[in-house]
Amino acid sequence: MSRPIYIAPSLLAADFLHLAEAVELVNQSEADWLHLDIMDGVFVPNISFGMPVVESVARLCKKPLDVHLMIIQPERYIETFYELGVHHLILHYEASLHLHRYIERIHQLGMQAGVALNPHTPIHVLDDMVHMIDIVLIMSVNPGFGGQQFISHSLHKIRQMKEKILKTGSSAKIEVDGGVDLQNAAEIFRAGADVLVAGSSVFHAPNPAEAIHLLKHAC
Ligand code: DX5
Ligand code: ZN
Repeated sequence: MSRPIYIAPSLLAADFLHLAEAVELVNQSEADWLHLDIMDGVFVPNISFGMPVVESVARLCKKPLDVHLMIIQPERYIETFYELGVHHLILHYEASLHLHRYIERIHQLGMQAGVALNPHTPIHVLDDMVHMIDIVLIMSVNPGFGGQQFISHSLHKIRQMKEKILKTGSSAKIEVDGGVDLQNAAEIFRAGADVLVAGSSVFHAPNPAEAIHLLKHAC
């Protein structure tokens, strides 16, 4: 039997004047998670949205909230995101001084813990953590903006990560974020991805629900 693929539309690409519609669309669609990109203008050269938006989205969204923190010292807000009702909290390896401790804290609170790796960060940095992580997020663009082109070297990192997960018996899912579309989805899945984040290719499509359906069935 083929393994499942999870689709996580990224709200960053939605029309912010109509966020409720975008969340409802995700609720009614075949999407598995809703991906929320939090940017602080320091870790990445852009600012997206913060807690008040997450709080409102959490009230309406029926799918698990997959929060990707692109902020320095993300440990400052672990409790806050828990209180907002977030299900998966993903921290950047590059922004986390005591990652082991932060992952333990996320687990203590009952959330799933993810670690994101920038395109320049090799996957071996997770060698001593892979057994305790629920999600490894491989950035396939440089974080900070939607609508960028998929970096093809990411496929190599996904394959390496998949091999490591199989070898160690870890149950971590591989999530791939940035430049994912209908053209490259199947190849990314074959390389070992379990979760595809899709911003522009969903919310800029003429029919976003159909785009989610097509991504899910392309794999
Ligand atoms: C980029 C974000 C992504 C982004 C993906 O920093 O982490 O989640 O929203 O957008 P697309 O799918 O348009 O590349
Ligand atoms: Zn993201």
